[in-house]
Amino acid sequence: MSETLTIALSKGRIFKETLPLLAHAGIEPVDDPEKSRKLILDTNHDEVKLVIIRASDVPTYVEYGAADLGVAGKDVLMEHGGEGLYEPLDLKIARCRLMVAGATEGPAHERRLKIATKFVNSTRRYYARKGQQVEIIKLYGSMELAPLVGLADYIVDLVDTGNTLKANGLQPLEHIADISSRLVVNKASMKTKHVTIKRFIDDIAQAVESRA
Ligand code: ADP
Ligand code: PRP
Ligand code: MG
Repeated sequence: MSETLTIALSKGRIFKETLPLLAHAGIEPVDDPEKSRKLILDTNHDEVKLVIIRASDVPTYVEYGAADLGVAGKDVLMEHGGEGLYEPLDLKIARCRLMVAGATEGPAHERRLKIATKFVNSTRRYYARKGQQVEIIKLYGSMELAPLVGLADYIVDLVDTGNTLKANGLQPLEHIADISSRLVVNKASMKTKHVTIKRFIDDIAQAVESRA
């Protein structure tokens, strides 16, 4: 009997962009998570299951071994802190940039800047490295609104085309990190299911290469 593999994915762009990579490894989900309400999806292999969770929960599921493998954005991994997981592969999907953004004009006089973001840890690290004291305001979404209503001077958010910023009269100002999604692996699974996981990683790596 072959070993079971549980793979954690989030709905939306990560699921859509991971699907062709999984197909290359011979894995196809039976249900479409955008249509099904199921949180555990069967695949064409009895021993391979997909669990569908929030993007920011993927590192937690994989770290605790509730999933053997997962796909998570580097932004999410940077926030989570990567020590509890292996990150063997850059999947080169869901690419964007973590940036400071705002209106062109900064605040007129010297005072502690207010930065709104859902990426509190990455933001704290970024400004600490610059030696700049800032006040960080935690939000869960729609960060672009914060400077418009005076909640914050700047935001730290993901930028791809820049359309969301532009639509709200903001612009990208400082680049913090290039972001793409990574394959993450539970540390114990990597040992106990080594052969199966090694083969899976190799198949996915080949798929990434063939799409480069
Ligand atoms: P969420 O509901 O948490 O925002 P998304 O599916 O929008 O989940 O984002 C999942 C991951 O995709 C993010 O963690 C990030 O790495 C990447 N991502 C987010 N927004 C974009 C974008 N506009 N373009 C490309 N990649 C993105
Ligand atoms: C993401 C991100 C930005 C936007 C950037 O939002 O949070 O708002 O994409 O992309 P752009 O530079 O191409 O406009 P998403 O589309 O994931 O919506 P969300 O608020 O549901 O996360
Ligand atoms: Mg999003």
